[in-house]
Formats: sequence, structure tokens, C-alpha cells
Amino acid sequence: MASLWKRTHMCGELRLADEGKEVVLNGWVAKARSLGGLVFVDLRDKTGITQITFNEDIPQELMERAKALRSEYVIGVRGIVRERSSKNDHLPTGEIEVFATDFILYSEADTPPIYIKDDDPVDENLRLKYRYLDLRKQKMQRNLTFRHKVTKLVRDYFDENGFTEVETPMLIKPTPEGARDYLVPSRLHHGSFYALPQSPQMFKQLLMVAGTDRYMQIVKCFRDEDLRADRQPEFTQIDLEMSFADADDVIAMQEGLLKRIMKELKGIDVETPFPRLTYKEAMERYGSDKPDTRFGIELHDISSLVKDCEFKVFTDALANGGDVRAIAVPNGAALYSRKKIDKLTKEAKHYGANGLVWIKLEDEVTSSVSKFFTEEELLAIAEATEAKKGDIVFVVADKSKVVFDTLGWLRRHCADDLGLLDPNQFNFLWVVDFPMFEEDEEGRLKAMHHPFTQPKLDELDKLDNGDILSLNADAYDIVLNGVELGGGSIRIHDRKLQAKMFEVLGISGEEQKEKFGFFIEAFRYGAPPHAGLAYGLDRMVMLLLGESSIREVIAFPKNQNAECPVSEAPGPAGREQLEELGLSLIEEEHENE
Ligand code: AMO
Repeated sequence: MASLWKRTHMCGELRLADEGKEVVLNGWVAKARSLGGLVFVDLRDKTGITQITFNEDIPQELMERAKALRSEYVIGVRGIVRERSSKNDHLPTGEIEVFATDFILYSEADTPPIYIKDDDPVDENLRLKYRYLDLRKQKMQRNLTFRHKVTKLVRDYFDENGFTEVETPMLIKPTPEGARDYLVPSRLHHGSFYALPQSPQMFKQLLMVAGTDRYMQIVKCFRDEDLRADRQPEFTQIDLEMSFADADDVIAMQEGLLKRIMKELKGIDVETPFPRLTYKEAMERYGSDKPDTRFGIELHDISSLVKDCEFKVFTDALANGGDVRAIAVPNGAALYSRKKIDKLTKEAKHYGANGLVWIKLEDEVTSSVSKFFTEEELLAIAEATEAKKGDIVFVVADKSKVVFDTLGWLRRHCADDLGLLDPNQFNFLWVVDFPMFEEDEEGRLKAMHHPFTQPKLDELDKLDNGDILSLNADAYDIVLNGVELGGGSIRIHDRKLQAKMFEVLGISGEEQKEKFGFFIEAFRYGAPPHAGLAYGLDRMVMLLLGESSIREVIAFPKNQNAECPVSEAPGPAGREQLEELGLSLIEEEHENE
């Protein structure tokens, strides 16, 4: 008996036009059932399912073997394609079946711990533990194939535009992207550590110094940060950098790419150029630097309307330098009961808000603050938000950041409740003119993107005149439906300006030398003006497929605890291995004390 039957077709391929052909298919038994004198097997591979029929024409011994087939057995089938008498409209192969003349059993299978069925509501941890079974699902194979198509198109596009894909090292010194590093101990240099790259930022800039001119790379990046649906500790970037290019050149190059991806892989024509919003406008209109513009519900500043009101929450917020802003949710008055509003108020606390004020415009005007405002005053607030009868207005008063974060979250939450988040609408936009700096929790200045970002050159005097927080950067983010797809900037190529940035950020000369000495030195030998950008590939694929988590588009993702459920990494290292690396664990040290 041959150990492998060469297949003639894939399981999703056969159609009525193939009737009468003798074919060989290989695959997994998706379903096997005996019915009277017949055995039906749904045979599956990554392209689909074909129904195999074993009938009484085949030898008895073969029929007995067919009756013993169970789910997930791996077999090869030889047979003849026939038109099906009862067709299955749900399957692309539903008009035909293959009448088996023989089959070969490659391997048996235990009962799988999860159903191999798209969208089976099983616990995600179980799916991730048995990922190789989960990936057998048609949807998951489709996702992997789509991701492959995106990366292939990306490589082709950049190749056609003069980019060279260059690999950069994985064992490096820390890159200042702002997250925690993954460290790798050095065996040859005890006490020294490599960092896994948070991005290839410094190396791609060195490639510009090297004259590579246009670089791209599809590259793994590593960040030890808190995980969310769109964040993984290891993720993939489409990373690029261009010499002698300004922001408009980088942006136009991306619009060309995204237009082509949308056309070729989604069949959708998107209009370019994409809208551009300044950071300030994005925050003021949408409360977010990654606005979802598929629906309205924009923010309105009502500070001037309420500055002399009786309600202390509003006046205190204004007195403390904050503001009062509001949104109107269309047809929200009936939708949001007291109970639902209480729930929203609780959730708003995560964004720092102490409360949500509401006004309902029904036959009567009702409000959580009607004690403090006349009906005319409430109507004036509602009018400022462009609310109509039937709407609910939500108001938040606090520090600007809290107001923006809360209303930015709330407008999207309400849009979701109202069914306004259409997964088939793709609203790309650029957010530009980001602030160069922001303050961290301790009030220290830090770069909003990274310290190699070029400030707006015509605003450089702000570095010295005390107005540093209003200095803008030549940085831009590409946003799709409320998700930051990618970000980039023009880079500093002037050594003196770079030194000044480090100085302003409080990075001492010694620290500069220790952390970025090699980088600063390279810029002494002739650096071209350059600019670049990096996309999150996982996020891009997730959005294009309408998935809500990047774990759905990564073959072997980490779980919420940054563990690999398949291999059970991370795991302990043996004493010998630790010794070789010159390491001992703190617990052991305590034990020895
Ligand atoms: P940035 O830090 O904005 O920029 O990263 C670029 C894009 O990478 C994606 N991303 C992530 N995706 C999944 N999981 C994560 N933990 C994660 N972190 C980031 C996002 C993000 O927009 N070197 C700069 C780029 C440049 O300036 O050229 C950088 O890394 O989609």
C-alpha cells in the first residue's frame, strides 16, 4: 500500500463541471455518519469541505473500514465526482459528491477537546491551548491566508516603489519607544543584557545614514506592556523609512498602499487623499487622537454657557483649569434608562470621571441636574450640542484629559449601542501636528512619539521660551475606524537639535552616550533628511477582516497573562543554565541568607 496518495484537487475545489472525473482528495474527517447502507464523510482541508459517499458498490471490507472513520481522522480518498441529488446551498462544493472507490487511513485521532466549528462559543483559553485544532477551522485558515495576502501585497508595493527589505537585529540595546523591554541575559558577558527590539527605530535610521534610501521590513517587535484586545507582547510591524522625503511624501506613499490593499483584497474603492485632522481638532471634536468618524456624536465645549451656573461641579472644574463638554446621543432618551445610565456612570469612572450629567429631551426636559438649572438653561446646553427631541445629552466636567477620555469612550460606546459601528465602512484618516512632549504621572517631560521626532522647525523657540508643552511635532498617525493603525514622523537629522532634545528631556550627556552613543555618532558622518512610519500589521489585518481582537489573526498569540498556552512559555530555567548566564534568582538568594 502506498504511504501517500498524491491529491488531484483540494477539498474546496470541485464543482459540477468536474462530474465524472476520477479524483484523489486528502484531508481530515470533519463529520462521518452511517445511514442505512451508506457512509457519508465530510472531508476537510484548508480550502473547504467535500462530501464523500461510500455506497454498497464498494467491497464489504472497505465499507467496514469506512464505518470506523471518526472525526479528525486523516485520510486520502480516491473516487468519482457525481452530481448530488440533494444539493447543499451552503457549501461551494454543495452540488457534487465524490463516490469513493478506495481510501487510505493516514492517522487516527482522539476525540478533539474543542469543536472544529467557526465561532463555537468555547472558552478562549481552551482555543489557545489547542491552537493547532482551533486553526483547523475554516475561518482561522481564511484569516491566516488573508494575512499572507496582505504581507505579499505590502512587499510587492514597496518593492515597486524602490524600497529594499532589510533585516535588523533582534538582540539589541533598548530602543526608547516607551514600553518595558524584554531582556535577554548574555552568557559571554555576565551582568549584561540584550533587549529585544520594541521597534527597529534606531537601526532603520542608521540605514538612512548608510544610504539605503528606502527601507521596509515586516518585523517582529516586543513590548512588555499591559495587554488588550489590540496589544500583544510580540507583534508585527510593517516598518518603513524614506530618505529625502517629507511628511507629505510618506503620507502619499501610504495612501497608495492602503488604496491598493482595499481594492485588491476587499474590493472597495477608498478615496484618497484621506482627511487630515490636527491632534487638537481630533481631541476637541472626538475626544480621542484616534477618532472613529463612522458616526457623528461630536463633542461640544459648553464651558462658556455654564461658567456662572449654580452647579459647583461645573464651576469647580472650570476654576481648576478644566472644562465642561457634552455630546448628544441621537434617540438616546428612551434607550438610556436610569439603570443603564448608572452602569455607564460606573464605567466612566475607569476614565477618571466622577460622574455623568444627563439631559433628556422628550415631551418634557428631564435632567440629573434640574435642581441647578432652569429649563431654558438646560435647553441652551442641549442646543449647543445640536440635540433634537428624543436625544439624550451627556455632560462631563473635569480636567481636560478626563473630559476627553470619558466622552471619547462614551461616544463610541453609545454608537455601538445604536448599531452605528458598521464593520463594512472603512474610514481612514491622518492625525497630524501632535504635541512634541507630554508630561508623565510625575510631571516629567517625555516625548509623545520618541525623542528622534523632529519638532516643527518654525516653532523651535518654544524649546526655550517656557511654552514647551505647546511645541508641535512633525508626527502623524494613520487611523482606521477608531484604531491607531500606524504612526511615524520626520526625524531629526541635525546633531545639535538632537542634543538639545535630549537635554530638554533630561537625558544627561552620560546617559545619551550610554544609551544612544552609537546612534549619535553615526549622525556625525552625514545624515540625510528622512522620515518614516510603522503600521501594526496585526491591527491592520484584524480591522480588514472585521475581527475584534488581534489574537484572531495571529497563529500562536499570547494570552492575557502574556503566556503561550501551547508551549506554556514562559517556564523556569534550570540552575545550571542560570549559572552559565551568571544569574541567580532572588528567592534562592533569600533561601541562602
Ligand atoms: P509605534 O510605537 O506607534 O511607533 O508603533 C507603530 C504601530 O505598531 C502597533 N503596535 C502594536 N500592535 C500590537 N501590539 C502592541 N503591543 C503594539 N504596539 C504598537 C500600532 C502602532 O501604531 N518606531 C515607531 C514608528 C516610526 O516612528 O516609524 C513605532 O514603533 O499599530
